[in-house]
Amino acid sequence: MFDYQQISDLNPFYRIAEFSFSVDQKYREPVRTMVKKSLELGSEAWGAYDKSSLVAGYVLDEYCMRFRESVVKMGGIGFVCTRVDYRGKGAVKFLLKESLKTMHEKGHAVSVLYPFNQGFYRKYGWELFFRMKKIKFSPGTINLPDEVNSVSSELLETPDEESVDFYNAYAREHYNFCPRTIEYWKMAVSHPWPDIIARNIVKFTEDDRVVGIMDLSYSREGKERKQLLSIRQFLCLTENARRAMLGFVKRLSQQIDEVVFTLPLDEELWPYLSDRPKEQLIQDAGMIRIVSLEGLEGLSIKAPDLDIAVKVVDSLAPWNDGVFRLIVKSGTLSVRRADEYDFQCDISTLSSVISGFTNLEEMQACGRIKPSERPVNVDFPKQVTLLMEFF
Ligand SMILES: CC(C)(COP(=O)(O)OP(=O)(O)OC[C@H]1O[C@@H](n2cnc3c(N)ncnc32)[C@H](O)[C@@H]1OP(=O)(O)O)[C@@H](O)C(=O)NCCC(=O)NCCS
Repeated sequence: MFDYQQISDLNPFYRIAEFSFSVDQKYREPVRTMVKKSLELGSEAWGAYDKSSLVAGYVLDEYCMRFRESVVKMGGIGFVCTRVDYRGKGAVKFLLKESLKTMHEKGHAVSVLYPFNQGFYRKYGWELFFRMKKIKFSPGTINLPDEVNSVSSELLETPDEESVDFYNAYAREHYNFCPRTIEYWKMAVSHPWPDIIARNIVKFTEDDRVVGIMDLSYSREGKERKQLLSIRQFLCLTENARRAMLGFVKRLSQQIDEVVFTLPLDEELWPYLSDRPKEQLIQDAGMIRIVSLEGLEGLSIKAPDLDIAVKVVDSLAPWNDGVFRLIVKSGTLSVRRADEYDFQCDISTLSSVISGFTNLEEMQACGRIKPSERPVNVDFPKQVTLLMEFF
């Protein structure tokens, strides 16, 4: 019923997206500029057309993402939206199915998106991938045992080469970070969002070596116009760096009312605070989907040796549908077609398990893996998952 094409005229797409995401006037130009810039850096906008008319669209970003102990190609899906008069007519289901073919052709192993509703994407094969911890407190409550004088800090408009190198080395070793180019950083840091007063990167150095970086986004919020600092990247290699970075934030306490840290679930700040935070929440964030199970061949994974056969149900990506043997030997995953299987699950369940967000045991306990009478006695280990890109 629909045609699938790359969107060449972006204007109708902007109009659909602006209505769908309730983008108010002051954000329209910044959003358009951001989409334009990301397309210049290699993202693609794809649409569902009825005759020659655009009726739904999405933007596909390509990342290299740490996944288990490897770096794999990941397709980031954003701006999924349908024209008002085409809602409920199957346009987005069609687009998601086509997006999987596109990502498969591009060699993407997995896909990530930020859902407006988890159930909506779950039935198409995406499943919960990571959570984020948000902690809000007054910088004055930072309480450090000792001053660290050996670490120096430098405020940057955009990251310099040294901090990009630091970030990329960190990204290859931690969570599900994605190495970034300088151009990508410039887009992320210098984009003129209304309400943001300033955005910076702070580089921390000790003995001529970068030991930490953090980003600062400064804004005024709410009726009270509180001065708010948001820190989404708080990356440190040493305890000295951590203390120097927190000391930097503490010294802003005469101006900043509140600071909000976005952190991985295993990062703790309480030992450095004199009182409980004003707010602390754990939010569900992105969902993940295996684009190609066989594309995970050779994945490095810290798991015990195992050999299991699973019947995978994937109605949207038929190349994943069927029986596969998943073998881990000496930390490397192999994926082979097979005939007999130990258990059955859908691609969304398997995606979340392979990512490390959950495991076979948990999925069996809640009935997402069948049969559930026979316990699975080998498993993929869980790990803290976290992606820092937003699309
Ligand atoms: C969410 C949105 C993208 C859905 O697009 P759509 O083209 O209407 O969706 P489809 O017609 O392809 O339907 C997809 C599924 O959702 C179901 N669905 C669609 N509209 C629905 C509604 N109003 N209530 C309940 N279910 C609905 C369909 O039945 C279908 O399920 P199925 O595959 O089991 O049959 C669209 O409503 C939209 O643009 N919303 C605003 C923007 C937004 O939130 N985007 C998502 C960002 S992550």
